[in-house]
Amino acid sequence: MDQPERPALKRLYIETYGCQMNVYDSERMRDVLAPLGYAPSDRPDDADLVVLNTCHIREKATEKVYSEIGRLRAHKERRAAEGKGMTIAIAGCVAQAEGEEIIARAPAVDLVVGPQAYHKLPELIARAARKSGERLAADFTAQEKFDALPARAPDGVSAFLSIQEGCDKFCTFCVVPYTRGAEYSRPLGDVLGEARALVEKGVREITLLGQNVNAYHGGEGGFAGLLRALAQIEGLVRLRYTTSHPIEMSDDLIALHGEEEKLMPYLHLPVQSGSDRILKAMNRKHDGAFYRRIIERLRAARPDIALSTDFIVGFPGERAQDFEDTLALVRDVGFASAYSFKYSPRPGTPAAAMMAQVDEAEKSERLARLQKLLSEQQRAFNEAQIGRVLPVLVTGQGRKPGQAHGRSPYLQAVHFEADAAPGAVVAVRIEAASQNSLAGARAASATEAA
Ligand code: SAH
Ligand code: SF4
Ligand code: F3S
Repeated sequence: MDQPERPALKRLYIETYGCQMNVYDSERMRDVLAPLGYAPSDRPDDADLVVLNTCHIREKATEKVYSEIGRLRAHKERRAAEGKGMTIAIAGCVAQAEGEEIIARAPAVDLVVGPQAYHKLPELIARAARKSGERLAADFTAQEKFDALPARAPDGVSAFLSIQEGCDKFCTFCVVPYTRGAEYSRPLGDVLGEARALVEKGVREITLLGQNVNAYHGGEGGFAGLLRALAQIEGLVRLRYTTSHPIEMSDDLIALHGEEEKLMPYLHLPVQSGSDRILKAMNRKHDGAFYRRIIERLRAARPDIALSTDFIVGFPGERAQDFEDTLALVRDVGFASAYSFKYSPRPGTPAAAMMAQVDEAEKSERLARLQKLLSEQQRAFNEAQIGRVLPVLVTGQGRKPGQAHGRSPYLQAVHFEADAAPGAVVAVRIEAASQNSLAGARAASATEAA
């Protein structure tokens, strides 16, 4: 009997740059392309379709995209000589911000697709294959995208869930309001539905994503209301969220950190600078005292909460004293982890046109001093866990039998000795700490893991 003809297996390679929103979007692109017969590949050279999911946040991030396109062009030419095709798609924030420029500058690129148009990928790919019509799709709304994407296939016990896109804050250094558009919150019911489906498929930890996740307003009770509703889902054991804005830390949300056990004691709360003058020029809408007060109240609600943040050094007009104010804030707060960057002027943003740009060498020197202090704090925070018993969510097994790895409540990677299945929460006695992870062994009883 004749078998119905199955579509030939095609290979898909996605390279993801930038923030977790992009990691989430890449996952969704894989889902949307699976029904077309695309199976994931881990290398670009043998792929039928290569997607670069790009980031526009700093100049270096953008440059990487053009050099990667150059490398892909060589693969594409080699494959063409072998009679095989390769479709190159540029997605993400560079696609949104510089779509026209990519089309003009890089003929090897078959299509450019902005972050709100991923549900259109099958159609765009078909059109590119026929070499007809549009190479650029960057004109949709976040709502259209979420409504049109298919169900997800999570591949682990910990998953991202995007609940909000875009930003209306317009910090003067930042491209996000331009590349991701206006703030949009997904309806509460949709978020709960996606969360339940993830948990049914084995997910135990959900990290809610958004550029301003705590500004969520898709249902009654705002962001804290959403967290409360999610915490009701049986089988879901851990909740996290990123990234938050200090001015959106509501009383309700702060209180919830002390009340809801599923909400993990870790918060990424970008401050950017410790200088009030610079914060004002950045249009951050908060000063150093406001930030310190939020931290104090969070610690009152949840004394062991671990804090993480972002800094920009060398913002236009930053003087030596402003930078000292940043170091003082770091010393006062004490961070478990942090990201810090040299200011990078982004075309079209207000700060790029400011007169007093800081010298590159000065930026580098300040960044090195700041990072030294931050990494000392991170190491001290990790070392402070030695001797404690922590509840660790197992995310996978190690190379040898009897080894496993997972995450502490404070988002530290933990490697430990135990036969433990992914998805379980086990008590681990911490015996060693390094800059980036902890090591230990299973403790006698899970009840010790408080
Ligand atoms: N929505 C988040 C993060 C946005 S981008 C927030 O509001 O905090 C992530 C980080 O990149 C920012 O927190 C900032 O520290 C950094 N960043 C953004 N634009 C930058 C620029 N032009 N130069 C250097 N760093 C930048
Ligand atoms: Fe960018 Fe500021 Fe919006 Fe964060 S809050 S995404 S830094 S504009
Ligand atoms: Fe980069 Fe876009 Fe995220 S610019 S940081 S990928 S929102």
